[in-house]
Amino acid sequence: MRRGIEAGIDVSKREWEWMMESATGATRIQWMIGSVEEIPTRWLDTFHDMVERRLCGEPLQYILGVGAFYGRDFEVGPSVLIPRPETELIVEWALSNTGKSAAPRILDIGTGSGCLAVTLALERPNSQVSALDISEEALVLAAKNAVRLGATVHFEALNILTDTISGGPFDLIISNPPYVPLSERATLQREVVQYEPHLALFAGEDPLIFYRRIAAISPGLLAPGGLVCVEIHSNYGLEVSQIFEGHGFFQVSIQKDLSKLDRFVVASVD
Ligand SMILES: C[S@@+](CC[C@H](N)C(=O)[O-])C[C@H]1O[C@@H](n2cnc3c(N)ncnc32)[C@H](O)[C@@H]1O
Repeated sequence: MRRGIEAGIDVSKREWEWMMESATGATRIQWMIGSVEEIPTRWLDTFHDMVERRLCGEPLQYILGVGAFYGRDFEVGPSVLIPRPETELIVEWALSNTGKSAAPRILDIGTGSGCLAVTLALERPNSQVSALDISEEALVLAAKNAVRLGATVHFEALNILTDTISGGPFDLIISNPPYVPLSERATLQREVVQYEPHLALFAGEDPLIFYRRIAAISPGLLAPGGLVCVEIHSNYGLEVSQIFEGHGFFQVSIQKDLSKLDRFVVASVD
């Protein structure tokens, strides 16, 4: 416990319970009503190991191997970003704005755990969802999530910055690309920098590089009336919208998250 305090890790009562439930397979209620009689040593070893990891600062989702997104559990591991609540706004926006097409064709760029692609495939059962990522390890996990949750998604390993995307046309392109400037590395939480994949976090020297590329290639991939929705760093709303306007997109707008921060940019090809 002292190690956690020294490391600035505040482990909540609920986190302890989640680790206990995960290590033992018994729920909090079962523990409370005393229906767990024997405690095998291996349970205690597993629980002890989880607590050690948490006190060292590892995010709970990596310890438990799951992160919640839009009401579902996604398997997560060191190769993928832990899904964030603000990214669920992309799902909300996509569900409200793809109503015109009975079977929307959707492309998710930088799918990670597959949280966006799998969620949209499940929430819009007639959709045709494709998803790409540069990380083969991430794609393995995303495909596992799709199978376990019963979603049909076509996954492909591609470098969005250099490779040509085949397929399409798409009605909607979504992306939560790496967008943290390297200059902000020192200001991020230690838990994030130490445990989350840098490939998913940092955009390199140019924090707008992914938006420049997505704006450049999307017109050739989208069907008439097609839409783009990209998550952004809250400091770059104006710059990202100008990039899309510069590539001839219409109805470019900046959408805010629940904290009133600029959180995503949406645009249409006509
Ligand atoms: C911020 S994460 C988003 C993951 C997931 N979509 C989410 O919202 O939780 C960005 C993803 O982009 C992927 N990525 C990074 N560089 C890439 C590239 N050049 N081409 C394709 N994917 C890339 C990373 O592997 C990572 O999975």
